Amino acid sequence: MKRLLVTGAAGFIGSNFVRRVLEQQTDWYVIGLDALTYAGNPANLENLADTGRFEFVRGDICDEQTVSDLFEVGLWGVINFAAESHVDRSIHGGAAFVRTNVVGVQVLLELSRLHGVDRFVQVSTDEVYGSLGAEGSFTEVSPLAPNSPYSASKAAADLLVRAYHHTHGVPAMVTRCSNNYGPYQFPEKVIPLFVTNLLEGRKVPLYGDGSNVRDWIHVQDHCDALIRVLQDGQPGEIYNIGADNELSNLELTCAILRQLKQNESMIQRVKDRPGHDWRYAIDAGKMRCELGWSPQVDFEQGLAQTVQWYVDNKPWWQAVKSGEYRNYYQRQYGTREGAGS
Ligand code: NAD
Ligand code: DAU
Repeated sequence: MKRLLVTGAAGFIGSNFVRRVLEQQTDWYVIGLDALTYAGNPANLENLADTGRFEFVRGDICDEQTVSDLFEVGLWGVINFAAESHVDRSIHGGAAFVRTNVVGVQVLLELSRLHGVDRFVQVSTDEVYGSLGAEGSFTEVSPLAPNSPYSASKAAADLLVRAYHHTHGVPAMVTRCSNNYGPYQFPEKVIPLFVTNLLEGRKVPLYGDGSNVRDWIHVQDHCDALIRVLQDGQPGEIYNIGADNELSNLELTCAILRQLKQNESMIQRVKDRPGHDWRYAIDAGKMRCELGWSPQVDFEQGLAQTVQWYVDNKPWWQAVKSGEYRNYYQRQYGTREGAGS
């Protein structure tokens, strides 16, 4: 059995990743670590321990002792999803972002150096490259030019990964993916926020003129790409992940409105995000050529399935939006302490 530490396992992408690994990699044993901040929800991992190949540990990646105990058992690999991930929150306050996204990554790298692991994957983001104009796309050699405290903290972590590989030989890789959508996404991010607002009969707050462009990928395609990187990625390398699905926020909003048979009167134009990156676009040619990965989910179908998932799973997002999910934490894991809130 390959023992894999998955940090941030109770979040959106982490929980989708754990589910995918347990389905596909029958010789991998997963230890899921998560601090259960506001974004971590143990309901996302319900029933996975029944596989006999998954265990959950509540803990903070900045807490060296807790993380060290997990390394003691002997790990094949580490993949780090744990992060403060929401750009708007980072604009209101960056401290938690530097703590988890930078200090936490240093703790994971240092322990990986001390204990030795075969693979280390840092799940980063296309936002480290900053913003594009109308032309071109980000490649792995595009300069780092982060614009928000969130993306700056992710870029800092990427540089720590580079340094730990270069100086200490930690077999670490960085992935930089575009905007994900799919089930279990926290309803502060645009797609689940807009879908759930509409299901509640509320309007959707579209920032600025709605012309900002994002490059969308289904979370399942991202997770499959990450499994490929864990298996066959080259230490020291960076891999961009994207599915060539660029849409302006207005186009995306209209696609969601169509799915839910609503019209543009449900759009509420609101003040723009400060420093709002205008366009992201990922060139994933290296993943395709070197690791033989390609995205499988068609955007129209993926969006329709995603909208349907939120229609079918009202109790999940209603508990999140009402705050009731925090009581679920307490019933399962006691009082909430540590990172985030
Ligand atoms: P998320 O906010 O849904 O999940 C983050 C998880 O990390 C939560 O479960 C949270 O409890 C946990 N966490 C936070 N601080 C922690 C700490 N100190 N110790 C342990 N756990 C902690 O985020 P997500 O959208 O699933 O993103 C996961 C990763 O993927 C992030 O690193 C993010 O930067 C990256 N990413 C996200 C996207 C996207 O579109 N969502 C795209 C590219 C990259
Ligand atoms: O590109 C990858 C990144 O994608 C990840 O690294 C981040 O963790 C993830 O949150 C996401 O960042 P964005 O800022 O692009 O995602 P968000 O869902 O917050 O916003 C998407 C777009 O929608 C963005 O242009 C802002 C706009 N928006 C967002 C919200 C929440 C609105 O117009 N209204 C809103 O209420």
